[in-house]
Amino acid sequence: MEAKEIILQTENYVRELLENDHSGHDWWHIVRVRNTAIELAVKEDANQFIVELAALLHDVADDKLVKDEEKGIKQIENLLTYLTVPSKEVNHIIEIIKNMSFKGGNNTPLHTIEGKIVQDADRLDALGAIGIARTFVYAGSRGSLIYDPTIEVRESMTKEEYRNGKSTAINHFYEKLLKLSQLMNTESAKQMAEGRHQFMEEYLDQFYREWNGKK
Ligand code: ADP
Ligand code: NI
Repeated sequence: MEAKEIILQTENYVRELLENDHSGHDWWHIVRVRNTAIELAVKEDANQFIVELAALLHDVADDKLVKDEEKGIKQIENLLTYLTVPSKEVNHIIEIIKNMSFKGGNNTPLHTIEGKIVQDADRLDALGAIGIARTFVYAGSRGSLIYDPTIEVRESMTKEEYRNGKSTAINHFYEKLLKLSQLMNTESAKQMAEGRHQFMEEYLDQFYREWNGKK
């Protein structure tokens, strides 16, 4: 099968799976990550085919979407094999997907440039104006508050605390968003992250100003 056709079929598969997702993993997140990843692949001289497929599939096995991550991974493997992707490339793509999540990968660094790029593209989509929007949508879907001034800001939280409603959308900035620009793997992503990070700092300043009744 031609590369173009493989990408198209993968795209259709992922779109169908994520079309109705409201947890921040919706189809347009995948499109943005794919586009950013391709841009980074060009700048960093990486394998575009691997980067595009891994970006398209990166959230399909996420534990927020499937009950069993292993099963999700197996489905990806079957799909790519069915689409005649050579096994060496299938393994590379699977390895990227398994290792890239912020929590799931236990922060193991990705060791191929293609993996680094897809992780950077995913993290870039958690920053800036889009990242802020996703955070509030996610918090809303979980029934969390925008902000609670009686809860002290926390940089990390246990699952138990989440369940007890201790997390707010604003707290997520300190838990994750403000840390991400320092975690970019590639130079090109670092540059893109800088402006988005700055924007979030300004957003928070304004947020507190309004919260405290100032203009
Ligand atoms: P991804 O791997 O695509 O970044 P995540 O599952 O980590 O996806 O998160 C999806 C979106 O929801 C991201 O924008 C993330 O910052 C946001 N998010 C994750 N956890 C929380 C939370 N506890 N409160 C608010 N937003 C969150
Ligand atoms: Ni993602």
